[in-house]
Amino acid sequence: AIPQDLAGRRVLVTAGGTREPIDPVRFVGNRSSGRQGVALALAAAARGADVTLLAANLDIAAPTGVRVVAVSTAAELREAALAATGEADVVIMAAAVADYRPVEIATAKIKKDDQGDELALRLVRNPDILRELTSVRRPGQTIVGFAAETEPDRDAQLALGRAKAARKGVDLLVLNRVGWHEGFQAETNEIIVIDAAGEIRAEATGSKASVADRILDLVTETAADAAR
Ligand code: C5P
Repeated sequence: AIPQDLAGRRVLVTAGGTREPIDPVRFVGNRSSGRQGVALALAAAARGADVTLLAANLDIAAPTGVRVVAVSTAAELREAALAATGEADVVIMAAAVADYRPVEIATAKIKKDDQGDELALRLVRNPDILRELTSVRRPGQTIVGFAAETEPDRDAQLALGRAKAARKGVDLLVLNRVGWHEGFQAETNEIIVIDAAGEIRAEATGSKASVADRILDLVTETAADAAR
């Protein structure tokens, strides 16, 4: 039997990748499939949690048995996350949020005849949703961030992760290597989890479901530590 160690806990998970519109038919996006976030939502539900999944452009079917809120842009994800965080005991930000969005969204399809051989897109930074969530953290709330890095060197990746965990104010940061063939869209994942102090708490390789369970083990440990 699956341990019901998240029974009665409200878990908010974000998954997928945001799309930032350029015009009515085009967007700036990323290759996040949503598989790891969906695996986290399903694993949390299997362990008894009341799960809300903020789903940004999933490549796979949205799961059943959890509350699913569809979002597309970073602005929509931010609004939904800020609305839901007050109720959540655990927040897991697995979504790949676009760092930038087009300054202007053309109201009609951009035409090559009007543009010639070059077209420049001007982008502006999106707000950091995770930082906003940690800044309004409820007492006892556990917040988990993700860091997708293409950095191949493990020590360099850890250094980036430690700086990011501190900057974002998260309880746990899941480092995963992404690249042309790893991480995003893949069926398996390879992760290192560090805590707020920068200590390595787990390393796991395997299916996104097994990685999800390992992350949730750490969430329950972290919540128990905080309650002591
Ligand atoms: O800074 P970086 O994009 O590497 O941080 C990744 C983490 O921060 C992920 O958990 C992602 O969901 C979150 N994030 C966010 N808002 C942004 C960018 C990233 O919440 N604008």
